[in-house]
Amino acid sequence: MTARGRFIVLEGGDGAGKGSAIASLAAGLQDDGYDVLTTREPGGTPEGLQLRALLLAAEGEVWDRGAELLLMTAARLQHVRRVIEPALVAGMVVLCDRFVGSSLAYQGGGRGIPADLILDLHRRFVGDFWPDLTVLLDIDPAVGLARSRRRLSGDGVDEGRFEELGHNFHDRVRRSFLDQAGQHASRTVVIDASRPIDVVQQDVIGQVRTRLAQFGEVDGEG
Ligand code: TMP
Repeated sequence: MTARGRFIVLEGGDGAGKGSAIASLAAGLQDDGYDVLTTREPGGTPEGLQLRALLLAAEGEVWDRGAELLLMTAARLQHVRRVIEPALVAGMVVLCDRFVGSSLAYQGGGRGIPADLILDLHRRFVGDFWPDLTVLLDIDPAVGLARSRRRLSGDGVDEGRFEELGHNFHDRVRRSFLDQAGQHASRTVVIDASRPIDVVQQDVIGQVRTRLAQFGEVDGEG
């Protein structure tokens, strides 16, 4: 399938501010005249949301890491086939909060599953399907986790299982994200997410606008 829109993924550790960055990015791109779809993983489809609830609300070490990877990949497969690919075919800019880079960082870097295996699973089931651009919101986990704990206690919804895994785990997650950025430098921008939120949001919008202009016109509407 030829994607005619653009697939942009925001990645980063917990508490990096992806949610607010995506919301302001979507608003900015809509003002520019793009047709924008905002979505997230795990989630993005009704089935994915059920898997999200299973994966994120469980207490402690319930999931075997392989089971966790398979469920994340299952949610991703549904999401790509049912939501992302159709939107790209319709010419939309798809903004996705997390994608396979999060599996590489959390199930790979964090839990120790070899990256080759994660990538092989992705290729076999999801296919040769990758972001056109990844925006990595990079932050020291100590700062990010303090932020996301405040957020969790604020809205009362506990999706905090990954947040509980400790600083060594989150340091490995961060290192994996930065390694991935280094490996795919031409299609990744790294943003310093430790700065004030409005500064981060402006940086994200500016970088994405520049990249979209470099890609040329989105082919959609055709
Ligand atoms: P969120 O809070 O940014 O929505 O992410 C939910 C959690 O799910 C986050 O702690 C990272 C985790 N996750 C994985 O472990 N593997 C994945 O493939 C994805 C998409 C998320």
